[in-house]
Amino acid sequence: MFIKTKYLMCALVCLTLYFIILQLLLLFERRSKTKYILLYGNYWRNTDNGKTIFLENDCPVNNCYITVVESLLPSISYFDAILFEGKEIFVKFQKPRTRSRHQKYIFYTLESPVSYPLYSERYNGVFNWTMTPKLNSDLYNGYMIIKNKEGEIIGPKDIMHWLKPEEMEPIDKRLINVLKKKKYAVAWFVSNCDARNKRSDIALLLQGTLKKKNLDLHIYGPCIWGSGMNCSYDDELHCLRLLRNKYYFYLSFENSLSEDYVTEKLLHPLRFHTVPIVYGGANYTRFVPDGAYLNVRTLGINTLVKKIVAAIHDPNIYHDYFKWTNHYSYHHPVESPETDPYCVLCKALNDDHLVKKTSMYEKFTKWWNAKTCEDGVRYIDKISDIPDDYIQVRCNTDEQSY
Ligand SMILES: *[C@@H]1O[C@H](CO)[C@@H](O)[C@H](O)[C@H]1NC(C)=O
Ligand SMILES: *[C@@H]1O[C@H](CO)[C@@H](O)[C@H](O)[C@H]1NC(C)=O
Ligand SMILES: *[C@@H]1O[C@H](CO)[C@@H](O)[C@H](O)[C@H]1NC(C)=O
Repeated sequence: MFIKTKYLMCALVCLTLYFIILQLLLLFERRSKTKYILLYGNYWRNTDNGKTIFLENDCPVNNCYITVVESLLPSISYFDAILFEGKEIFVKFQKPRTRSRHQKYIFYTLESPVSYPLYSERYNGVFNWTMTPKLNSDLYNGYMIIKNKEGEIIGPKDIMHWLKPEEMEPIDKRLINVLKKKKYAVAWFVSNCDARNKRSDIALLLQGTLKKKNLDLHIYGPCIWGSGMNCSYDDELHCLRLLRNKYYFYLSFENSLSEDYVTEKLLHPLRFHTVPIVYGGANYTRFVPDGAYLNVRTLGINTLVKKIVAAIHDPNIYHDYFKWTNHYSYHHPVESPETDPYCVLCKALNDDHLVKKTSMYEKFTKWWNAKTCEDGVRYIDKISDIPDDYIQVRCNTDEQSY
């Protein structure tokens, strides 16, 4: 009897220990569980596979595995996230055959809805998360990050609390010396010669108006209406140094006008001491402080040219365009682990609260195409002194017409 109890006690203790260890193992397993990300479709063919990208980019959360190989796991429904790329699904959209309720379908792109409109019903009710240059995406996937003097990330975002130009410090001697070398009025590096938003028409109008003031707009690149000058993208740094050393202004003309769509075309001049002249569909107050840029859409050609002339003739006026550099800095998202898109994605997939929350884009097409095509005309404001037919572009919400 006594012996029996002893055995029973032992069995009980063993069993309890076993369960405790099992629980701990399960907890550990859950904590360290690798998150599997599938890059779906051909777009990603040359993307790096595996865990290394998260380690190389110093991601604070790095237990992710990314792959283009669907057969890595027993079923496609085992992946924690599946990424669909915008340009590709614009041409061909095929959903995986099976889907589990807890996995996230993510719409990923760096493009704009004007270039890749997705109007068909078949895009609705499919995606759980978005990862695009639109600021209201679940995960921001844009072209620039703004930091303050303390190195904190402050933007871009809808409402920015920029210092007013009059609150900013004047620029120092070192920067004045850099700006002294400038020789020509405006540069534009362009490779896409027939963007639908007619930016080249505006550039040529501007060029003609500047010419009358004996100022140059040099158009670099292969387009026939260019200035016959090249600056090869193979040596981007060389071109950007040329910009910094020789040009007062740069045309940051986006190839499509859509909300929040600002690209490296804006980032480059800001980082290379040249004033951007912007043309795009973004509300630029979300991206650049007042007094740091000129906007052709709000100024019109004649006022724009007056401002260019004034800045070139009076160094004090020109220097004021750079006061922001005392307070803010611009960065590419991949420069820091907090904003690197791979790191951002891996972190989100480890956020239990975020992952458990059911989320879906029931009206995806409406979200994606917002403010791009209204009443059959592209989302473009009037430019006061440019005839409407220069900038108005017909559009159609019927996908067949693309
Ligand atoms: C610029 O590049 C284009 C295309 O590569 C070439 O045809 C042209 O001759 C080049 N122009 C100059 C001035 O080098
Ligand atoms: C741009 O955003 C600012 C700040 O939210 C807002 O005050 C302004 O009205 C917006 N401009 C346009 C043209 O929508
Ligand atoms: C993802 O979206 C699908 C389809 O809209 C939905 O059925 C599912 O519940 C969502 N899952 C999560 C985890 O949000």
